[in-house]
Amino acid sequence: MITYLENSKQFQLDTDNSSYVMQVRDGFLLHIYYGERLNVTDHSYMRWEQGRAAFSCCLEGCQGFILDDTPLEYPCFGRGDLRSPALEIINPDGTNICDLRYVSHKIIGGKPGLPGLPAFYAEEGDRASTLVITLRDNISLVECDLYYTVFEDYNIISRHTVIRNCGEKPCHIKAAASACVDFDHMDFEVISNYGTHCRERMIERFRLNHGKFELASRRGSSGHVHNPFLILASPTADEDHGEFYGVLLVYSGSHAITAEGTQYNACRLLAGLNPDGFSWKLEQNGEFTTPEAVLCYTDKGLTSLSHIYNKAINDRLIRGKYKNARRPVLLNSWEACYFSFDEARLLKIGKCAADLGIELLVIDDGWFGKRNTDNCSLGDWVIDRKKLPNGLDNIYKMLKENNCGLGIWFEPEMVSPDSDLYRAHPDWCLHIENRPRSEGRHQLMLNLSRPEVCDYLYDSIAKILDSGMISYVKWDFNRNMAEVGSEVLPPDRQGEVSHRYYLGLYSLLERLTQSFPEVLFESCSGGGGRFDAGMLYYMPQTWTSDNSDAIERLKIQYGTSLVYPMSAISAHVSASPNHQTAHVTDFATRFTVAFTGSFGYELDPTSLSEEEKLLVAKSAELYKKYGYVLVTGDYYRLKTNYEEDCAAWCAVSQDRAVCVAGYVNTHVRLYDKNQHIRLKGLDKDTAYKDIFTGQTYSGAQLMGFGLPVKITLEYRSQMWILEKA
Ligand code: GLA
Repeated sequence: MITYLENSKQFQLDTDNSSYVMQVRDGFLLHIYYGERLNVTDHSYMRWEQGRAAFSCCLEGCQGFILDDTPLEYPCFGRGDLRSPALEIINPDGTNICDLRYVSHKIIGGKPGLPGLPAFYAEEGDRASTLVITLRDNISLVECDLYYTVFEDYNIISRHTVIRNCGEKPCHIKAAASACVDFDHMDFEVISNYGTHCRERMIERFRLNHGKFELASRRGSSGHVHNPFLILASPTADEDHGEFYGVLLVYSGSHAITAEGTQYNACRLLAGLNPDGFSWKLEQNGEFTTPEAVLCYTDKGLTSLSHIYNKAINDRLIRGKYKNARRPVLLNSWEACYFSFDEARLLKIGKCAADLGIELLVIDDGWFGKRNTDNCSLGDWVIDRKKLPNGLDNIYKMLKENNCGLGIWFEPEMVSPDSDLYRAHPDWCLHIENRPRSEGRHQLMLNLSRPEVCDYLYDSIAKILDSGMISYVKWDFNRNMAEVGSEVLPPDRQGEVSHRYYLGLYSLLERLTQSFPEVLFESCSGGGGRFDAGMLYYMPQTWTSDNSDAIERLKIQYGTSLVYPMSAISAHVSASPNHQTAHVTDFATRFTVAFTGSFGYELDPTSLSEEEKLLVAKSAELYKKYGYVLVTGDYYRLKTNYEEDCAAWCAVSQDRAVCVAGYVNTHVRLYDKNQHIRLKGLDKDTAYKDIFTGQTYSGAQLMGFGLPVKITLEYRSQMWILEKA
């Protein structure tokens, strides 16, 4: 609900569990409060006491009104607020001052979309409404519309800003955050997901200090290193108790989220596009829309924060046929054969997979151009007839007869220097004239800010999908941006290229996903290098990491679950010894870990023993029956190998009738024998039956004492499926 109190010029935004309060004072839009839900009343007394005035710049006519110590909703550079700004404008005269004051506001039902950008959406019947507050600099005539959508049922508030130049001459945006929150204290711990290739979304938790913590990407993608999501936690808060604030950016390019501890022991949280290398020219009446940031507050612990984001992403970000639907059990050819396959081998693998109940064979990298290694052919999306003389026809036919679908890999945003596309259009890649072009994995990045490049990609991909044979696409992206320039843009628009690239990509994805609504798209970037809410708007799942080692995946999947739902987390059983780590892990453990996400295989099934094949068949059967619990259920982190020598988790269906639980011991020791895992989220009075052993427990027992864990040297994991008896 959104309430405006005319007398105190106060805005109050209420979700079911939180309130967000702002107030207009002396024309400035002040932040007053974000936290536990309040009654609707005048909260003016909550305005901060002013800090000491020494050195501070007071506003004309307002002695004692020091912007540097004022909580602001959309702070600008240049008028005495010396913290990091949400907005920095380069005016036509070259100065970079901006002074935004309240002009008007309106409250509208539902939620408008963001032009060309991914965003959370409201559905008919949702308790969702949007407040738009317009601010203006009365001298430069730059205007900002601040959008706040309150999703009452989902306990999130989404924000973005539209910046407009109402002046006569062009100006430039140097920095434009999606959201700013000025907290009145800095008694926080920061929780962030950091990582690298094959070690994505590790968790770090540390005290917020004076100065600025920046979680950012300048790589032209959200990246492996810093996921665009940050949590501020009350220092004593844990999984089940205490206050947490989250900010999630719905964007896949270079971002920056900063938490700044100020001289007056306050905290400014900013989230949005990374200002480094960015600028945007606004002509007269030109508008710029920032990406969306989604805020969340809970006082019920980290699990509650995750549940809020997980559910909102499943219900109000992910779209299409696979929204809240179990995904097919798939087998991906990458770790099974890498580049060395032909029709005969794929037919053999596909038939074997289908016989074991696998529902989809994915032909990964290597099916196009003359791609026998990773140094050529990206851009030439034409089937390699040497490997596949009959195209995909025979494979598709065989799979169809065996009730199995066909999927295919693309890396559309890239071009190999050794490709027909590059020979025909050497200017289509990101590059800067007269400078060398750096290659990553022997490839260059196409300039998706150019519409003709996106059209080419649409046509070449549509040509393959038009055959009707493809029901899944893995969309990969395997390098960082460098030499970010475009010769079709003038010099004063070069700072726009990276963001225009994403506008191009998003519009291409929108076209493709609308044209092929039956196809399941999975995003990938050297594993989880672009695991973000922006991509999830178009593609409901992401290949979580190129590291498929089950033990390593425990931390990766745990970290990813902080914000992203298990439905989005692709997890496959791969061969043992593992190809990335050489670790040997038993089948049951690999299966237990992969079963937690969107499940599949990444190995050659024809090389398995008969016993292993039976396990594959059994696992596929189980996932078909219970996979929905992971997609739509509530996921609980129970134990983690960040802290102990084991990990445990469970997912509970919305009706609390089914629970899938897993446990893995990461260092098998004999004294670990007597562990028991206390489950969460069950109904105390319900009797649950373990479908494997037939043993019955009450919900109270499972949550009070827990499930006993049986660990031996050979057997390091356990999985339970508990059903209402
Ligand atoms: C990336 C992906 C892998 C695989 C290879 C193919 O590394 O993350 O899963 O598709 O590319 O080249």
